[in-house]
Amino acid sequence: MAELASPPRPSVQSRVWRWIDSRLGLDSLAYPIPAHANNVLYTLGGITLFGIVVLVGSGIYLTQFYHADPTQARQSIDYIITTAALGEYVRGLHFWLANLVVVTLLLHAVRVFATGSYRAPRELNWVVGVGMLSILLGLVFTGTVLKWDQEGWEALQHNQEIGELLGGAGVWFTPEFTDSTPILQRLFIAHIAILPFLLFGLALVHLLLIKRHGISARPGEPIEHPGHTDTREAMEREGSLPFTSHLVHIVGWGLLVTAVASLLALLVGAPLGDVIDPGVEKTKPLWMFLPLYPFEDWFSVKALLWIPSIGVPVLALVPLIDRFRSSAYRARAPLLAAGAVVFVALVALGIYGRFEKTAEHVPGVEEEMK
Ligand code: HEM
Repeated sequence: MAELASPPRPSVQSRVWRWIDSRLGLDSLAYPIPAHANNVLYTLGGITLFGIVVLVGSGIYLTQFYHADPTQARQSIDYIITTAALGEYVRGLHFWLANLVVVTLLLHAVRVFATGSYRAPRELNWVVGVGMLSILLGLVFTGTVLKWDQEGWEALQHNQEIGELLGGAGVWFTPEFTDSTPILQRLFIAHIAILPFLLFGLALVHLLLIKRHGISARPGEPIEHPGHTDTREAMEREGSLPFTSHLVHIVGWGLLVTAVASLLALLVGAPLGDVIDPGVEKTKPLWMFLPLYPFEDWFSVKALLWIPSIGVPVLALVPLIDRFRSSAYRARAPLLAAGAVVFVALVALGIYGRFEKTAEHVPGVEEEMK
């Protein structure tokens, strides 16, 4: 009787992979997603998340050297720049990547708005996204205070002023909250613990909801099979890819953005302004806050409280405002036009704020450093 040929022995590589996979279940990540999800416009959220992870890593490194005592903070930044190994580079990377992450985040939000991906059943995920946007801006703001130069000092004065305008509800934002810890220390804790904790909590909900609903179909594509989701319909129409290929795209783009931030860190570095002069107000905020600067001129520092208090809820309510029958661009033209007007107005206000004369907005900037 002829002997049966034994099947070829699997390679070491595939045996190692099977060993890992049987323990971690990584192949469950290869679930199908619509082919258009690998378009860069549908990868911007993932790129943002990648950037945030690198920000956490670089931030942990900077925390090893930063001293959140008002009498030591500035010297500790000087130490990071001059003495800590790779300190100047890591500080530059943290600064530039934070800026680029705000850019990718805004582009992500614009993409979701333009494609109408906030429509049913994704309305709540839009609201979660608005929460993440607010937290990320809070991280940029508190980070600016930490560098404890003139700009950071003035940012802190604005923080305190708004806290006072809020009365009892805003006491946390003022030094009156406690005598035991300087406000700089508390903003540092907000920057490294409270806000990241909230951000990752919301990011988890965001990702679970994306997994639950699937990525939205391209705008205006009809659902031809009753009972199908838009994601399933899109996969049938355009084909599908494994989610792992999407992860590879995210990592590729994320590394590219990190490389750009690294280059900026090496060529330009992170800014560090003048030593604090508590008697003057002479700096302007970072670009993402500049559209608010003219309002401060026109309506005093109160505008910094009122405009976000109105703007953020209006943004969160976009899914309710959109009553159009279809997600097609043409069907939503009035809403898209309104969004474009707001966008252009924000850019124009930012440019105006950048070039207008620096003005004193916060009364009592000459107060003692607390
Ligand atoms: C730190 C901030 C954020 C992160 C890390 C993040 C992450 C993501 C990721 C990975 C996706 C999958 C699709 C894609 O990448 O385009 C996504 C989808 C989505 N995001 Fe975000 N996001 C953030 C902020 C926002 C904001 C500010 C909004 C809206 C104001 C938003 C609303 C949505 C919605 C509605 C979806 C579903 C889109 C679809 O199915 O096409 N996200 N987000």
